[in-house]
Amino acid sequence: MDIGIIGSSTVAQTLATKLLELGHSVMISSRDTSLAKDRGDRGTLPSAADFAAGQRELGRRAAAGSFAQAAAHGEIVVNATAGGHSLEALEAAGAENLAGKILVDVANALDFSRGMPPTLLYCNTDSLAERIQAAFPAARVVKALNTATATVMVDPSQFGEATTMFVAGNDQAARDWVRSELLEGWFGWRQVLDLGDLTAARGLEMWLPLWLRLMGATGTAAFNLRIVTAG
Ligand SMILES: NC(=O)c1ccc[n+]([C@@H]2O[C@H](COP(=O)([O-])OP(=O)(O)OC[C@H]3O[C@@H](n4cnc5c(N)ncnc54)[C@H](OP(=O)(O)O)[C@@H]3O)[C@@H](O)[C@H]2O)c1
Repeated sequence: MDIGIIGSSTVAQTLATKLLELGHSVMISSRDTSLAKDRGDRGTLPSAADFAAGQRELGRRAAAGSFAQAAAHGEIVVNATAGGHSLEALEAAGAENLAGKILVDVANALDFSRGMPPTLLYCNTDSLAERIQAAFPAARVVKALNTATATVMVDPSQFGEATTMFVAGNDQAARDWVRSELLEGWFGWRQVLDLGDLTAARGLEMWLPLWLRLMGATGTAAFNLRIVTAG
């Protein structure tokens, strides 16, 4: 499939690498495709253009472009931008390029302006995913993958046991596609829970404060939830 990723950093490059390995045509995107991605004490990632060139050298169908070019390229589109800026990034992507398409929202609207730990820009009775759906009513927004670190998103088998991923969205067919094709089929998730409409994104996004504490307590980002029920 043709996949457009809005964003160019850790999540965008990790998802793109996996999707390209699987044979898809992927365009990642940036406000400036020539700028390397400085991730502070986590090092530097290649620019979107260098990432795509490196992937093409491996024979893969990779490209880098503007947010609008990536959204136009995608039969499905992924929002992998900093959550506090997702609405402006998607505005630049263009409502017309998102209309009718599944928009997988992996973002978290973390506010670092008052230092660490970050707070959530939207919570309790609101969520980033709902804001995106309200701003782009013709897009089919599905919240997924925001609850795990990037390397876990695309390689859930690393735990040696099934752990849990979630989908939420107002469009049942879009949720079903993300669950069965993207998550189970392409990425290998074995326990995907459908949480229903997009109000479930509130809880999925409010998991982040606990996720951050768990990263501190375990000393790694490579962990995940496993939901078990009695009986
Ligand atoms: N890192 C993880 O493992 C992980 C796991 C789960 C969820 N998430 C969520 O996934 C999203 C992406 O995370 P990330 O770590 O890959 O990178 P990030 O640093 O959170 O976001 C990078 C992207 O946001 C865009 N961006 C930043 N400010 C912008 C602005 N003012 N206007 C438009 N776009 C802007 C950047 O565009 P440019 O390319 O133009 O700079 C870049 O593509 C975030 O919402 C994050 O919370 C991350």
